[in-house]
Amino acid sequence: MLSAKTFNLYPNLNLQHFKGRDVLRIDEFNQQELHQLVQLALDIKKMQKAGTPYQPLKGKTLGMIFTKSSTRTRVSFEVGMYQLGGMSLFLSDRDLQIGRGEPISDTAQVMSRYLDCIMIRTHAHEDVEELARYADIPIINGLTDQFHPCQALADLLTILEHKGSLEGVKLTYIGDGNNVANSLVLGAALLGLDIRVATPEGYEMDPQILQQAQAYANQSGAKLLTTHDPLEAVHQTEVIYTDVWTSMGFEAENEKRLKDFAAYQVNQDLMKNADPNYLFMHCLPAHRGEEVAADVIDSKHSIVFDQAENRLHAQKAILTTVL
Ligand code: CP
Ligand code: NVA
Repeated sequence: MLSAKTFNLYPNLNLQHFKGRDVLRIDEFNQQELHQLVQLALDIKKMQKAGTPYQPLKGKTLGMIFTKSSTRTRVSFEVGMYQLGGMSLFLSDRDLQIGRGEPISDTAQVMSRYLDCIMIRTHAHEDVEELARYADIPIINGLTDQFHPCQALADLLTILEHKGSLEGVKLTYIGDGNNVANSLVLGAALLGLDIRVATPEGYEMDPQILQQAQAYANQSGAKLLTTHDPLEAVHQTEVIYTDVWTSMGFEAENEKRLKDFAAYQVNQDLMKNADPNYLFMHCLPAHRGEEVAADVIDSKHSIVFDQAENRLHAQKAILTTVL
C-alpha cells in the first residue's frame, strides 16, 4: 500500500519552516529547498497517478483572486486543492469589492478570517506584497507583471523529468524579458542550469533580477549569458523556451512588439542550430506564427503539455508546504 510514508513525504525537514510563509518569488526558496520542493512535487504526482492521492489538506480553503485571465492557473489550483482534500473559491475582481476600490489591506484582513491561503494573479507585484503584508495567511503569487513562480517550479520539474537532471542542462529563453523569464532564470540559476537569454533591444530582463540570478549562479555553478542574438543563444541548446511577445496588460504595445520581436520567432530554421534532440517549452497560452512556429510547438520536440500538467503537481507541493 502506497502512503505518504512510502514516498518519504515526511519528514521534509528543510521545508517545514515554510508553513505559513508566502510564495511571492521562486527565490523565496534556496537551492536545497527548491530541490526538495521539486522532489515533493514528483512524489505527490506519483501518488496521484498510483491512485493513492496525498490528502493532507482536509478542511482547508484556498481563495483564488484573479484580476487577469487564466486557464491553467485557475484549473490546476482548483483541482489541486480538491485532490489534496481541501476546497477552493474562485474570486474575480469583477465581483470582489476590491474591484470597486476596497483597500487591499482590508481585503487581506477580512480574507484571513475565512480562508487558510490565498493565491492571487494580478498586475502590480507590489499589490501582492501589500496583500501579504496585511494577511495572516500564506499568499501565493499566481502571476504578476514581474514574476510567475508557480510556472517556474513546474518548468524545472518538467526539465528534470525529461533530462533526468538539472545541473548543467543547456536552457535557452528567447523573447520578452518578462515575468516568466524572470522566474525561470532565477530558478534555473539556483539549480545550476546553463542559461542563455536572447531578447530584442529594449526588452531585456530587469538588470536587478539578472544580478540576483548571477549571484545564485556563482553559488550553484550555473552559467548565465544574455544576448540580443538568437543564433548565439540557441547554439547546441537542449531546451528552448519562449513566451508570448505581448503579455497581459501590455496589449496597447502589441503592434510595435510584433515588429520588434519578428527576428525572435522559434522556428525550425532557428532550431537547426540547437541540439538535434532539443525540447521545446512554452508556459502557454501560445500564439502560433508569432513567438513560435506551429512546426515547432506541434512537433515531437514539444513538451508544453507536460509542462501544463506539472503546474498541478508543482502547486500541490507548494500548497502542502505552506499549509
Ligand atoms: N501558464 C499560465 O499561467 O497559464 P494561464 O494564464 O492559463 O493560467
Ligand atoms: N507572460 C505571459 C504569461 C501568461 C501565462 C503574461 O503575463 O501574459
